[in-house]
Amino acid sequence: MNLVHSKDIYYIFRDVMRCLDPKVMNHGARTSYILYRMLQCMEGKKFEMYEIAEFAFLATLHDLGAYKTNPGEDQLAYETKDFMPHSIYGYLFLLYLTPFKDRAKIILYHHTDYQKVPKQAYEFNDIIHCLNVAEKMDMYSNILGSKFDYMMFQKHAGTRYSDKALGLLYQAEKKYNIFSKLSSGEYKNELAELYEYLIFTDEEKKEFLVGLMYIVGFRSEYTMLDSVTAIQIAESLSDRLMISEDEKEILFYATLLHDAGMCAISKDISEAPRKLTDEEMQTLRTHVEVVESILKGRIDEGVLDTIMAHHERGDGSGYPKRLKSDQMNRLMRILQVADTMTGLTNPRSYRDPKPKEVVINILKEEAEKGKLGKEVVRAATTYYDEIMAGVKQKSDEMLSMYRKLQDSYEATYKQTNQ
Ligand SMILES: [Fe+2]
Ligand SMILES: [Fe+2]
Ligand SMILES: [Fe+2]
Repeated sequence: MNLVHSKDIYYIFRDVMRCLDPKVMNHGARTSYILYRMLQCMEGKKFEMYEIAEFAFLATLHDLGAYKTNPGEDQLAYETKDFMPHSIYGYLFLLYLTPFKDRAKIILYHHTDYQKVPKQAYEFNDIIHCLNVAEKMDMYSNILGSKFDYMMFQKHAGTRYSDKALGLLYQAEKKYNIFSKLSSGEYKNELAELYEYLIFTDEEKKEFLVGLMYIVGFRSEYTMLDSVTAIQIAESLSDRLMISEDEKEILFYATLLHDAGMCAISKDISEAPRKLTDEEMQTLRTHVEVVESILKGRIDEGVLDTIMAHHERGDGSGYPKRLKSDQMNRLMRILQVADTMTGLTNPRSYRDPKPKEVVINILKEEAEKGKLGKEVVRAATTYYDEIMAGVKQKSDEMLSMYRKLQDSYEATYKQTNQ
């Protein structure tokens, strides 16, 4: 089932990350344009268009780690002085959480001087050197404005910057007028044309989106635990409610992405250790409209409709549209129950997880009031223990992956600082 096009994986990734840190993603998009044009000038058309599109996608994400290591901080500080932490996290995110495993090292060395990049054969060393030049060019053209001169790095050719990469940049500038297109914004249309060439398999698309949710989750364990829990509950429920394989696929994507709009909500609100004010509640509720703005036109309508209904309730008391039960389908009702159970069974900043009896009572009461689907609640309460055992297993796997990533950070840091 083709629920999302390859190019839209890029846009979803970019827009969720942009929502977390617009500066990092705007710099990423501009850098990706410079790299794209440089690679097109490589002799003998070394790469196919889909490969160039993948490198450009990777370049958009080159500072991804900064959002973990230096959230909201001045870009210049982590880009020029203490640059290893964000480079390592970006590398590890890509290595563990995306299909770009073989290219993750490009991110690890994106700030390393040409002379210092390990010389042992790595098939993408050329790309490392090109990305190094491309990202610096964007930084300096932004900082210096009209005083910027793209020849300014020539004096470091062969030491800090690769001669070949600088040569490609000069050629690309002559051929495509990179810097004027960056100033006018014209580069955006050209990038959009490039991303039409992306080709990912269904498995790769899934891995990207799951990875994205993990990356977002790295700002708070709650979010990450919630995604894993909700997916596992929705899956267990759908097994018990005999829904078709196609519907399961729709439900998987919907559950995975249903709270992606939380990227726009500050932690002060999403993790406030107290009751929210009315105004804060209104803000929190906008996460549904945010996810709509990110996904509309980019994902299957069934997936989006399911997502849009995750806070609706059968008696019309939900949001954003106050739908009634006859306007909702089974997938929506499963996600509503999975989301409610996730909220009750996972810890919150303001309270501990609720015990089984309390959760079951709340679910039954909500079903009685016509808020949650009766059939779904019956499955959830009947098979509660099995469902939660599955959740425990998946959460443990996720936490061990999280620890592995943290340990790898320490190890990589030592290795690269030797
Ligand atoms: Fe950068
Ligand atoms: Fe960087
Ligand atoms: Fe939500």
